[in-house]
Amino acid sequence: MNAKLLGLLAACLMCAALSARAEATLYAALGERAGIAGLAEDLVGRLKSDSRTKVFFKDTNAKNLAEQLRDQVCAVVGGPCVYEGATMAKSHADLGIGMADYLAVVELLQDAMDAKHLPFSVQNDVLARLAPMYRDIVTR
Ligand code: HEM
Repeated sequence: MNAKLLGLLAACLMCAALSARAEATLYAALGERAGIAGLAEDLVGRLKSDSRTKVFFKDTNAKNLAEQLRDQVCAVVGGPCVYEGATMAKSHADLGIGMADYLAVVELLQDAMDAKHLPFSVQNDVLARLAPMYRDIVTR
């Protein structure tokens, strides 16, 4: 193997190690599974009481939604959880969610993370990982 290829391989390995470390750090920064569970419960309380979002969640079982959110966020931040709920497209398909509704939910998630005194870098990382779901959730 020539030196250039060896250098590239070393860089790749370092990259993989660094990104695995970033994942572990984010999961830890959120307080692992228990911290994420607390965050999800807080968020569901906000979703059910905020004037912009409560209409969507009026018939929702809070405990069940909090558990689904916990598993999903835990998995998305690299934690050892498996999300077994419905896909984002399927669970939001008939809800008629618009951009303003989506932004309201994001704001409530930020409020829930603020309440736990999570640093902005951690908050931004969580939001960045959830952002790609936007296209499956917003349907109008
Ligand atoms: C990044 C944004 C979002 C994420 C990660 C997310 C995640 C989830 C998850 C994991 C579920 C559970 C699915 C299941 O039970 O199988 C769910 C259900 C639901 N979501 Fe979202 N969601 C997001 C945005 C929104 C928005 C913007 C709204 C409306 C304003 C919304 C309204 C709902 C409703 C009404 C349910 C069904 C709850 C029930 O079963 O009664 N979601 N969401």
